[in-house]
Amino acid sequence: MAETLILLCHPDYPSSRANRALADAARTVPEVEVVHLDALYPDGRIDAGPEVARLIAARRLVLQFPVQWYSTPPLLKSWQDLVLTRMFYVNAEDEGARIAGRPVMVAATAGNRPEAYSESGVNLFPLSDLLRPLQATAHRCALEWQEPFLNFGARSASNTALEAAGQAYAERLRALAGG
Ligand SMILES: Cc1cc2nc3c(=O)[nH]c(=O)nc-3n(C[C@H](O)[C@H](O)[C@H](O)COP(=O)(O)O)c2cc1C
Repeated sequence: MAETLILLCHPDYPSSRANRALADAARTVPEVEVVHLDALYPDGRIDAGPEVARLIAARRLVLQFPVQWYSTPPLLKSWQDLVLTRMFYVNAEDEGARIAGRPVMVAATAGNRPEAYSESGVNLFPLSDLLRPLQATAHRCALEWQEPFLNFGARSASNTALEAAGQAYAERLRALAGG
């Protein structure tokens, strides 16, 4: 099992450039495991048992996804509804309590540029504010929220920019493991 578990969620991975570049870079970092939930559960039906075991075995968690309508893709919401509800509500003492204090980091790609995520921009709020439901979830689950890794302008990024983003991501993952 991984020291750093990256749960990658992308409903259309064959067309992905940004998340693919990030995932490829992440795989070069020691002790990182990338689990692509959509590939594992193409019918959308997540098997809670193995996912709970996977989470308990990992030292730190990264949730990687493209921002879709200011939120996570649907399968990652299903993962929260199924796995987190079981771990932190139904079996809180036997399962959830076992991972208290572990770090969790969001790694999100966004099609829009940073200036769009402001009061005067089309998206009104900073992306970090829009991620607050995930931050609240981490707090509720006693997981240690980390500064998110955000990649803006992802839809139209050049290959060079994506390569740089991958390197920056790998650097953050090394820092997360070190700190
Ligand atoms: C259904 C859907 C909803 C999207 N919603 C947003 C959004 O709310 N904000 C944003 O910046 N980009 C949005 N995008 C753009 C994606 O975030 C962007 O294309 C993706 O992060 C690029 O990564 P990829 O190359 O791995 O697909 C959306 C894309 C789709 C398909």
